[in-house]
Amino acid sequence: MKKREKRQLEAERIETLIGGLSRDEKVREMKNYLQHGRITTYDHCFSVARRSYRINRSLHLHADEKVLLTSAMLHDFFLYDWHVGDGTNRLHGYHHADTAMENARKYFDIGAKEQSAIWSHMWPLNITRVPKSREAWIICLADKLCSIEETVFKR
Ligand SMILES: [Fe+2]
Ligand SMILES: [Fe+2]
Repeated sequence: MKKREKRQLEAERIETLIGGLSRDEKVREMKNYLQHGRITTYDHCFSVARRSYRINRSLHLHADEKVLLTSAMLHDFFLYDWHVGDGTNRLHGYHHADTAMENARKYFDIGAKEQSAIWSHMWPLNITRVPKSREAWIICLADKLCSIEETVFKR
């Protein structure tokens, strides 16, 4: 199969797994906030979802793809601009996973596995929140890789 066909199939599979979420009005509010450089929180979450999908497939980790991509798409669903310099977001790094998890529960009634993966994604900054599932580990890694790429290469 050609690379272009593979990418097309991948895009369709990802769309099937998170299509509803990516079109949701509340999720799309993340387009209003910048995450790294000029990358919005929405685009960052989508990149983490796609990268999580690729890590899982290429390393044959057999994670639950629905849990994986739902959690990845909502891992930074905190809905505020963390750059605002009034001092209230100084602890953003430590607390935003809680806010994202609470929002995900409030708007989408997600399960325990998704909640746990969102809650632990900032490990090792949140040192006690060690990821507890393969989905959580994949998201934690994909988030770091995307964050570095967005910060260093796409400013
Ligand atoms: Fe985060
Ligand atoms: Fe993130």
